[in-house]
Amino acid sequence: MRIIPGVHHMFSAKSFVSVVTGLLLCLAVSTAWAEASGAPLKWWQKTTVYQIYPKSFADTFGNGIGDLRGITGNLDHIRDLSCGAIWLTPVYPSPMVDNGYDISDYKGIDPSYGNMEDFDTLIKEAGKRNIRIVMDLVFNHSSDQHSWFKESRKNRVNPKADWYIWRDAKPDGSAPTNWRSIFGGPAWTWCEERQQYYLHTFAPQQPDLNWENPEVRKALYDAARFWLDKGVGGFRIDAITYIKKPEFRDGAPDGEDGLSAIHTMTANTPGILGFLHEFKREVFAGRDIFTVGEANGVAPEDLPKWVGAQGVFDMVFEFSHVNLHLKNGEVWCRPTEWKLTELKSALTASQKMTAANGWCPVFFENHDQPRCVDHFFPKGADPKKAAKVMATVLLTLRGTPFIYEGQELGYTNVAWPSIDHYNDISSHGQHRTALEEGFSPEEALAFVHFFSRDNARTPMQWHTGLNAGFTTGKPWLPIHSNYLTVNALTEANDPDSVLSWYRRLGKFRRYHKELTAGTYEELLPEDEQIYAFSRTLGNRRLVTVANFSLRDAALPRNFADNMTRVLSSEPGGDDGSLRPLEARIYREKR
Ligand code: GLC
Repeated sequence: MRIIPGVHHMFSAKSFVSVVTGLLLCLAVSTAWAEASGAPLKWWQKTTVYQIYPKSFADTFGNGIGDLRGITGNLDHIRDLSCGAIWLTPVYPSPMVDNGYDISDYKGIDPSYGNMEDFDTLIKEAGKRNIRIVMDLVFNHSSDQHSWFKESRKNRVNPKADWYIWRDAKPDGSAPTNWRSIFGGPAWTWCEERQQYYLHTFAPQQPDLNWENPEVRKALYDAARFWLDKGVGGFRIDAITYIKKPEFRDGAPDGEDGLSAIHTMTANTPGILGFLHEFKREVFAGRDIFTVGEANGVAPEDLPKWVGAQGVFDMVFEFSHVNLHLKNGEVWCRPTEWKLTELKSALTASQKMTAANGWCPVFFENHDQPRCVDHFFPKGADPKKAAKVMATVLLTLRGTPFIYEGQELGYTNVAWPSIDHYNDISSHGQHRTALEEGFSPEEALAFVHFFSRDNARTPMQWHTGLNAGFTTGKPWLPIHSNYLTVNALTEANDPDSVLSWYRRLGKFRRYHKELTAGTYEELLPEDEQIYAFSRTLGNRRLVTVANFSLRDAALPRNFADNMTRVLSSEPGGDDGSLRPLEARIYREKR
C-alpha cells in the first residue's frame, strides 16, 4: 500500500505499568549524564539563534525579494525574542539556482540583497542590540558560475584544473559511478571542453570542490577569515560531511533509475576529520565565535568526535529527529511511519551524546524542513496550539535553540495546486522521481505538499496590509493565505498568540539558569502522548511536559505531587491531565 504524506506517527495506548517501568529505567540511566565540567557557559550557549532566509524576510527595494536593509529594519523583532545571534543563510553573489547555496564569489554580497555597506550597517545595528551575525559557509561546492569553475572546466592543464572533482568516463562512456545527486538525477555531469565528468552532490550547477587540493582549502579558509575580520559572530557550515570523497565505485541501485543515493556513499567518509581539524586550526581556533556544522550522516554516537574540546565544531546539526519520515533515505516518495517515542529517543540521544562533552543546537525547523506544526503532530492538530507545544520543547531543552523565521508566528505548510508553482529545486527533482517510480500526478504532488522546502520559504508576514508587509512589489514566492491572522503585528498585540508565547518563553529561559546550564533527563520515555523531561541545576529543577496528541493525556499518579505549575500553554486547572496539545512547565519544590 502506498503511503501518502501526512502525519504518520501513531499514538498507541500504553499501560500504567510500562510508564512506571520506563520512568524508573530512565531515572536510572540519566544520572550518568551529569554535566561534565562546571566551566562557565559561553555567550552562544546562553542565547537563542534566529535563522533568517533573507530572500523571504523583508523587502525594502520593492522588487519582491528580501534584502539586508529589510533585516536591519526589523532587528527589534529578533531582540524581542531574546535572540542574541542571527544565522543568515547565504547572501553572497549567486546565480540563485539554489537560492544562494550556489556561490559565485565568497567575498561579496549579491546585488539583489544590497551591498557591503548594507552588510556593515547590519553588523553595527545588530551589535547595538547585542545580536551577532552568523554567516553560512558553503564550502562543499561552489556555483558553476564561480570564476574558479569557469577556469577549471576549460581544459585539463589550467591552474585551477584540479580545483573540482573531475573523472574520466567509464570505458562505455557512462559516468564514473552510478551515484544519484541529493536533488535527484545523476551526480556526474559531462563537460565537453575537458571530455570528462565532474561531480556534484547537489545540482549540476553546484560542482563539488576538491578538498584534497591544499590551494582550494587555503582559498576557502581565506574567505572565512574575510568575514571574521568584519566581526561576524560565527559560522553555520553547509553540507560539510560531504567534503571528503571515498573511493569512486558504484553503489547498490536503490531505485528504478538504477542509481544509488550519493549520501550513503560519501557522507562522513573516513579521513574527513583531518580536513576539519585543519579548518578549525586555521580559521576558528581562539576566536570568540561559534561554529555549527550541518552534519548529515553523523550519527548521535559519532558526535563526540565532531563537537566539544576534542571535536571540530562547537555544535553540529544532527538530523535524526527531523528525518523520521525519511528513514528510507532522502526520497520523499518512500516516507516511513513513526511514533512519538522515536522522536523523543532521537532528541534524547543527541542530548545524551553532547551532555558529557559538547553542546548541541536544538531545532525543529529550518529553510529545508516542512513547518513543524505539520511535521510533528497528528493531522488535524490546531496549528496555534501545536506551535506553542513545539516552542515550549524548543526553549526548554539543553543546547542552543534555533528559531526559524515564521516559526515564532506559527507558520504552517502551503499546498499549491501544481508543481509549476514551486520554486525549490529539490521539489522538482523529488516530484520527477515520484512520477518515475509510478506514482500518479496527485500522489507526486502530495509528497511535494508535505516535504517541499518552499513550505519554509514563503515570505514573512509582518501585518495585514499589502503583501503582508513583506514587499510593495510582487513577492518572489506567494504569501501564505493565513496572513490576516498569522502576522507579527496582530500577534504582538494578542497576549494569547504564538508570538507572545515565544517572547514569554524567551524571557523565561533568560531568567532560569537551569534551562541553559542544567542537566537533561527524559521522563516517561515510553509514553506515546507526552514528551516529558527535566532540567536540573544544583537544587533547582524544572520539568517540561508536552502533550503531542489530540486527546487528553493523564500524567502518572503522583507525577506532579511535588511540583508547582509555572507556565501553561492552555488555560484551565491543574488536574493531573494535560489538555490536547498542551505544554506545561513545572518547578519542583525541593
Ligand atoms: C544544505 C542547505 C540547503 C542547500 C544544500 C546545498 O543542505 O541547507 O538549503 O540546498 O545544502 O548547498
